[in-house]
Amino acid sequence: MSLYSDIIKKKEYIAIVGMGYVGLPIAIAFAKKTNVIGFDINNEKIRLYQNGCDQTRELGDEVIRNSNIVFTSDENDLGKAKFIIIAVPTPVNCNHIPDLSSVIYASEIVARNMVPGTIIVYESTVYPGCTEDKCIPILEAKSGLKYGIDFKVGYSPERINPGDKSHPLESIVKIVSGMDKDSLDEIDKIYSLVIEAGTYRVSNIKTAEAIKIAENSQRDINIAFMNELAIVFDKMGIDTNEVVDGMNTKWNALGFRPGLVGGHCIGVDPYYFIYEAERLGEHSQLILSGRKINDCMGDYVADIAVRKIVAAEKTLINIKIAILGITFKENCSDIRNSKVVDVYKKLERYGIKPVVCDPNAEFEATLEEYGIELTKLNEVKNMNCIIIAVAHDVFKNISLDSLKKLYCCCEDNEKILLDIKGIYSLEELEKSGLKYWRL
Ligand SMILES: NC(=O)c1ccc[n+]([C@@H]2O[C@H](COP(=O)([O-])OP(=O)(O)OC[C@H]3O[C@@H](n4cnc5c(N)ncnc54)[C@H](O)[C@@H]3O)[C@@H](O)[C@H]2O)c1
Repeated sequence: MSLYSDIIKKKEYIAIVGMGYVGLPIAIAFAKKTNVIGFDINNEKIRLYQNGCDQTRELGDEVIRNSNIVFTSDENDLGKAKFIIIAVPTPVNCNHIPDLSSVIYASEIVARNMVPGTIIVYESTVYPGCTEDKCIPILEAKSGLKYGIDFKVGYSPERINPGDKSHPLESIVKIVSGMDKDSLDEIDKIYSLVIEAGTYRVSNIKTAEAIKIAENSQRDINIAFMNELAIVFDKMGIDTNEVVDGMNTKWNALGFRPGLVGGHCIGVDPYYFIYEAERLGEHSQLILSGRKINDCMGDYVADIAVRKIVAAEKTLINIKIAILGITFKENCSDIRNSKVVDVYKKLERYGIKPVVCDPNAEFEATLEEYGIELTKLNEVKNMNCIIIAVAHDVFKNISLDSLKKLYCCCEDNEKILLDIKGIYSLEELEKSGLKYWRL
């Protein structure tokens, strides 16, 4: 009898360790097919889920309320599951070194509670080799069970895109790997229960880890390339978005645009590669350069705002700037590692205290994480400069005429607008009479 058949007959549980942006959607998807335990060490998060509240705002409260997931912060419950998915954070520290403490701790918790016959699948993004070199020895040591005999391990990188309703988990091909053919077969069949787009089997765990790091590093480098072009094109008086539109008419165009690269994937994962390459005696040149360019973009945007203010013959004293958007990307509530904060901090160093407005972000979380008190959109007024930093739909729906009402009383050509994400067309901006700038 395979684990897969026990799972579909609801004789066995699937447990998800780490109920965040990644863990929650997987738990919800599996809960439509079988018994699911959602475990997290954050008691408050678990309490909110138990009360039917979706903190991530990705799926909505009703989806949580209608699910039969057993939300728990009692690690003993993990002993009831034979298929355990680990989806805990893998950030970097302030020196850009991988911080593996959550994956290590999660491995210890799982090891303490797992029973013989369990398959553990890591979904947290790590550098190639990490699952086998760091996690499996912990699973063995803390459980007293033998790897490959008593328990098996796989790796399946998560490729969801928070805030993107058109690409839900089920629609994204799932890379699957296992320590041997039997475990890969089980892992493949179990994920196939929920992934409508199908799975893609790779021959070993390291390759699956590498796919995730490579795809995110590739995005990072491509955006860095566009950022470098944008900085120079700006000096040449060329609008980069118009260049990209032109480039996109060619069949092999990549379509990347310049921007702030934040969050805990694209801006973090390349550092995992850089770290492990360095350990192996290889100094990353291209990927590290891309990181350096992208990490400077917040300062660059703030400097542009100041230059525009000075060019408009205004002093920085009492200047009022509104930043629209603080989350790391559009239409999501996640503020972690947001590069908009770099814009804010650089402006603060000029003695300016910008007003920040983001209806998608949590007031308390933003205050706690960055010390920034969010302002409601209808309270934004008398501005000299507006920086639209995140392309939330709510901002895209503001016409330029409505936007003008958020400025102080002055001529339109004294109202400064930085449209970082190019949410308005060049024609609209030209017609508006505003003093605009796009990245
Ligand atoms: N968010 C994304 O868009 C995304 C996409 C693909 C991959 N990933 C990767 O997936 C992983 C998880 O990311 P996330 O965005 O879901 O993080 P998250 O912070 O939203 O959620 C992680 C959860 O794990 C919990 N946790 C931490 N340590 C734990 C432990 N020892 N035991 C149990 N729970 C623990 C935290 O309390 C939190 O609720 C990371 O490696 C990330 O890089 C994220």
